[in-house]
Amino acid sequence: MSVQTADPPNPLSLEHIADPFPTYHELLDHHPIFWHEPTQSWIVSRYEHVRALLRDNKRVWTIQQQEQIGPVLGDAVTLLALDGKEHTAQRGRITPFLHGAGLERFAVTVEDQVQALLGTILEREHAAIAAGERQRGEIDLVKEFTAVYPVSVVAAMMGVSIEDYATVQRWYNAFLSYGSNIAGDPEVFAQGMQAKHEFGEYILPIIAERRRSPTGEDLITRLCHYEYDGRSMTDEEIRAFLALVLLAGGETTDHQLAALMHTLARHPKQLREVQEDRTLVEATLAEGMRYCAIVQFFQRTVRDDMEFEGFQFKQGHRLTLMLAAANHDPRRFDDPDEFNIHRSDNRSAVAFTGNADHVGFGGGRHICLGAQLAKREMEIAMNFLLDRVTDVKLKDGYEPRYAPSPFMRSLLNLDLTFEPA
Ligand code: HEM
Repeated sequence: MSVQTADPPNPLSLEHIADPFPTYHELLDHHPIFWHEPTQSWIVSRYEHVRALLRDNKRVWTIQQQEQIGPVLGDAVTLLALDGKEHTAQRGRITPFLHGAGLERFAVTVEDQVQALLGTILEREHAAIAAGERQRGEIDLVKEFTAVYPVSVVAAMMGVSIEDYATVQRWYNAFLSYGSNIAGDPEVFAQGMQAKHEFGEYILPIIAERRRSPTGEDLITRLCHYEYDGRSMTDEEIRAFLALVLLAGGETTDHQLAALMHTLARHPKQLREVQEDRTLVEATLAEGMRYCAIVQFFQRTVRDDMEFEGFQFKQGHRLTLMLAAANHDPRRFDDPDEFNIHRSDNRSAVAFTGNADHVGFGGGRHICLGAQLAKREMEIAMNFLLDRVTDVKLKDGYEPRYAPSPFMRSLLNLDLTFEPA
């Protein structure tokens, strides 16, 4: 295949983050595979190619993850960088608690968090309207809700006490900054390592306690006592996994939910439809995972020299797989820049599983382990909101702001107005 490589856009430049669709299409149409000097990696954007490489366990792997984020998460290698049988076994030790019936046992925890966070804000707004202070309710959904919601859910699942949530948030922010410190700021690295140390000091005694007295129903207790392939997780593995869950589960669901609510506010007809018919919530979440996927790319590493679509990938080369661009590939999705909760080429029934049509959760053996949890969190929050408010609109003069990260498209503000339902 001949591919034009002259002057490709830099998809990792921050100038695209507010309006990335034109860049996706420039990549997809003119530069589907090219060598990117700044990241020393091959940037790959077409759906077919991205999906094939995500699933090519023989020729590509995720070893770079250990270098990129591993050090701050703990001393054990996390799922992100494990491979082969070890990866299968470790996923086997965790999956029962994040899928199906195991996950459902946490649904009440999720509902409690929504009630505590969003319920309180909506009551405040409803009271202000009732008192005649304003005509419509107002909320910055990101600042007041999504930024704290998923990380609170994870903390509650771990069974840590409510007074510790603020500290957990601080560690989570330090892990996050460490993982996205592309500028290599030494202070950010130091803060990340300090958070690793503090998190270890905090969580290891809790793990030891839950091992001794397996009374609770929390995630830590369950991880301590469940065996797969002849053994349960070690303390260090649990600690590293919990740090990963804080990061992978805190940073993502919040931005995905915010991106989806922003999109819905800009598509009032579909918002009304889903408000009136809640059986459409699943399809709405699925279409959000495709249309406004927040994770822009994920990386892989080439195991051995290989040929791919006419290019020679060398051992150790990085591959930057543009998940969000692949979701807008017209070779795979009809009218890809159209937000359409009724589309048939992104099946909602499988959108949060390994058979998903979109690649918003990655793919292959490392596909997001928390996809079902993310779905439940978004579903519960969206239904809660739509039960209590109506006529949701963007506030007059609202201008979206995004975090300066090429990796994740993270909305920093979402000013909405609404009426009580
Ligand atoms: C909408 C929210 C979320 C998005 C968009 C998202 C996205 C992703 C992506 C793109 C990957 C990489 C997959 C790959 O390498 O192919 C991933 C992996 C992962 N995610 Fe999520 N994620 C979300 C929510 C969560 C939650 C709530 C958890 C909490 C448990 C979680 C835990 C993980 C873990 C543990 C992995 C590593 C899996 C492995 O390497 O085997 N994620 N996620």
